[in-house]
Amino acid sequence: MIRSVVAGFGASLPKRVMTNRDFEGLIETSDAWIQQRTGIRERHIASEGETTASLGEAAARAALDRAGRSAQDVDLIIVATSTPDNTFPATAVNIQQRLGIHHGAAFDLQAVCTGFVYALTTADLYLRGGMAKRALVIGTETFSRLLDWDDRTTCVLFGDGAGALLLEAQEGGGHTDDRGVLTAHLRSDGAHREKLYVDGGPSTTGTVGHLRMEGREVFKHAVGMITDVIEQAYEATGLGSNDIDWFVPHQANKRIIDASAKKLGIAPEKVVITVDRHGNTSAASIPLALAAAAGDGRIRSGDLVLLEAMGGGFTWGSVLLRW
Ligand code: ACO
Repeated sequence: MIRSVVAGFGASLPKRVMTNRDFEGLIETSDAWIQQRTGIRERHIASEGETTASLGEAAARAALDRAGRSAQDVDLIIVATSTPDNTFPATAVNIQQRLGIHHGAAFDLQAVCTGFVYALTTADLYLRGGMAKRALVIGTETFSRLLDWDDRTTCVLFGDGAGALLLEAQEGGGHTDDRGVLTAHLRSDGAHREKLYVDGGPSTTGTVGHLRMEGREVFKHAVGMITDVIEQAYEATGLGSNDIDWFVPHQANKRIIDASAKKLGIAPEKVVITVDRHGNTSAASIPLALAAAAGDGRIRSGDLVLLEAMGGGFTWGSVLLRW
């Protein structure tokens, strides 16, 4: 039985850091309000020359280095993003070119903040289906370029960055103790599409547009949707919260993360938090958090890692994997 095993991980953040205090004077807000409502202290913001593709390329190179693999070993690239460098071609093709790869397939996948969970699930199916052997799964975003910097209800929440995993198809025993992706569960419901959206696009306004969000409405649905897809993962594997070594949620808001962990009975010391330093980096937040926790030695080979995300659409999903 083929399993998709994590062989490497990498991250890339823009150099410029913007703290909560940097907003004071620009909009009516305060460090105290932002920290109390979201847990965010600072975020990285891309400067001129830093783009979704350049950040994604750097994260991909770091993942290849960590795995001791060459770019030529990769035959699939999936990029999760809502902020592509261009409407087309795909950012994945841009990164493929930057890495000097001229074989295999590369495409983008758009599920907003759930993008990385969707991309990982898709790559797992390609590897298990025998269509590819080694996949770069990249979450990369420059959300700062979609923000209305006069709208205090949204501009303080987001940041830029990229994270990547290198997945390899390996023969495994098919047991939950074996390394690799164990189960994945994806959901969406377009009835909620106007609660979190961008008010522009090539086919409507011909502009890029700005992010618009009914934050309280998103918050209201988040915990229920997140816990629902995690319970599906538990049901599919016979595993539960006590078996989880690390909970690596999408990093939108510390209050949503805390409430979800509490409802599921996951101990706070098992929860990986990066929202304080990164803000909400949409599809990049999970691979950035994985790279932080694996990079500092918390997540180790053989650990059971639970991923979840919820975002625009709404879309939501979970992945349970043995690192
Ligand atoms: N600074 C100071 N005050 C502010 C700010 C700010 N930056 N933003 C809003 N306020 C004010 C509001 O105007 C409001 O004032 P009022 O009572 O006078 O009208 C007050 O603060 C409370 O506003 P709420 O919106 O009720 O605040 P809430 O506690 O809900 O927090 C937040 C807002 C942080 C956006 C929260 O609702 C949230 O995190 N929602 C979920 C967002 C999310 O998870 N998104 C994930 C998906 S992202 C994706 O898919 C791309």
